[in-house]
Amino acid sequence: MEHTPEQPLRVAILISGRGSNMQALVDAVAADHLPVQVCTVLSNRADAAGLDWARARGLPVECLSHRDFESRDAFDAALLARLDALAPDFILLAGFMRVLGSDFVRHFDGRIINIHPSLLPAFPGLHTHQQALAQGVQWHGCTVHFVTPVLDHGPIIAQGAIPVGASDTPDSLAARLLPIEHRVYAQVLRWLAEGRVALEEGGCVRVAGVEHRAWAGDTLFE
Ligand code: GRF
Repeated sequence: MEHTPEQPLRVAILISGRGSNMQALVDAVAADHLPVQVCTVLSNRADAAGLDWARARGLPVECLSHRDFESRDAFDAALLARLDALAPDFILLAGFMRVLGSDFVRHFDGRIINIHPSLLPAFPGLHTHQQALAQGVQWHGCTVHFVTPVLDHGPIIAQGAIPVGASDTPDSLAARLLPIEHRVYAQVLRWLAEGRVALEEGGCVRVAGVEHRAWAGDTLFE
């Protein structure tokens, strides 16, 4: 989906916890005066620390607890109705720890974006840093991608990579990767706000005027 930048881009940010990626997105909007309106910061957990941060920033926040619903489908349906009412151009998953069903994903086809802490297609799912260490890979990283009904899969918008050291642990990898996640996701939001991101037939992404969408550490390839 392409956005024409005459109107501010409406984004809904979905979180489940700390919300540091959400903070990086919100900070990028403020710092770069991006034409982006955050129409909600929504959490499926009332105790998500990110909600407090967003509330303190004056953003609209809300909780839709999955525990209040009898089934996964019922939660998805309520979330879908809520988001439809807000009419976001994009739904940005930022540490949102619920798997969204295929009906939900198809409804918002091409409008849901996620950040995953691995170089997809390697290491979908949980414990990605542990998985990377167990496989002995020498590069690890993060991926911002369009969401498809297949978990942690879908057209890749951008990736950031870090080298794995002999003394790395899952915690040290997570800590080194997190600032890269923030940088990559914020840059993707800039491209979205500029209306440059296109999802092409065949499922590849093109970002108009951008050759490289790859970071080595915190440096974007030029
Ligand atoms: C990040 O590592 C993100 O890639 C993953 O969950 C973590 C969320 O962290 N999906 P935060 O809530 O954004 O701080």
